[in-house]
Amino acid sequence: MNKIALSGIKPTGIPHLGNYLGMIRPALDLAKDYRAFYFIADAHALNQLHDAEELDRLIFEVAATLLALGLNPENVTFFRQSDIPEIFELAVILAAATPKGLLNRAHAYKAAVETNLAAGRDADAGINMGLFTYPILMAADILLFGSHAVPVGEDQRQHVEIAQDIAQAFNRAYGDVLTVPEAVIGEAIADIPGTDGRKMSKSYGNIIPIFAPPEELRRHIMGIVTDSRPPEQPKDPGQDTLFRLYRFFASPAETETMRAQYQSGGIGYGEVKQGLFEVLERTFGEARTRYEKYVVDRPFLEGILRYGAVKARAVGAPMLENVRKAVGIRSY
Ligand code: TRP
Repeated sequence: MNKIALSGIKPTGIPHLGNYLGMIRPALDLAKDYRAFYFIADAHALNQLHDAEELDRLIFEVAATLLALGLNPENVTFFRQSDIPEIFELAVILAAATPKGLLNRAHAYKAAVETNLAAGRDADAGINMGLFTYPILMAADILLFGSHAVPVGEDQRQHVEIAQDIAQAFNRAYGDVLTVPEAVIGEAIADIPGTDGRKMSKSYGNIIPIFAPPEELRRHIMGIVTDSRPPEQPKDPGQDTLFRLYRFFASPAETETMRAQYQSGGIGYGEVKQGLFEVLERTFGEARTRYEKYVVDRPFLEGILRYGAVKARAVGAPMLENVRKAVGIRSY
């Protein structure tokens, strides 16, 4: 019960089923066996989101989402990144221990450069330093709390590896101060399709929000792209977006029944859509009622986040003290 799990969720969009399966659910499961620190990575969101009102709204939507899904703020230290000044100070100290080449190789930065070059633009056009140093800030989040396990989606694997490299570089220079973290990635759910069959992602516009009201949820499901095979024709369930989503929320027995119906023919996509709607309602209906109550109660959410910040700083401040001492900066 004393190992630490830590993860952050960036408030850049309404939380969707991909976030739920890829990160939120594994993180909440892990909180049963670890001392968990989960936070809203609002400073990371600044790199993408330049709209104060929208950021403010999303921070509280994400907080309400996690609480509605069962995060218990007594068991989990649940906070907002920007409430922890120690994270930002640690990021500055870590920057001095981070080889620039490590960041040159980061996927998100490299992809942005490649997009620029392909379009005939300057390599760094439109790329801010926040994007370039994103992995350092994330390493500070992770290392400030002595995290052992970092539950994240596959897309964040490299960021955790960079945090490992930074911790090791720091420890080589200053002794054994920082804990080297491990990523915990739910392999089976690395591939969550969106409504168009590609990976579910806000940037593809193919998401299904976790707490869409029933009518909206139905609209999203109706919009899922299928082929045009008629009900009687056998279908490969592994190739169909509806089935690939259904299996995450249906029971094993329901999944097997559905799989058999695909393979033998006799079920149409309309019927599968209804089935998917029902398992999603069953999974999220009650939580949505809680969500709707929490999301409009700012004082409640604010109170929980501040309570979490006090607990987080009680752990983070002594760690920062150790780091300051190790590098030769006076302590407070
Ligand atoms: N970069 C993560 C994402 O985009 C969010 C994040 C920020 C995070 N800091 C973190 C995740 C620390 C795990 C640990 O999803």
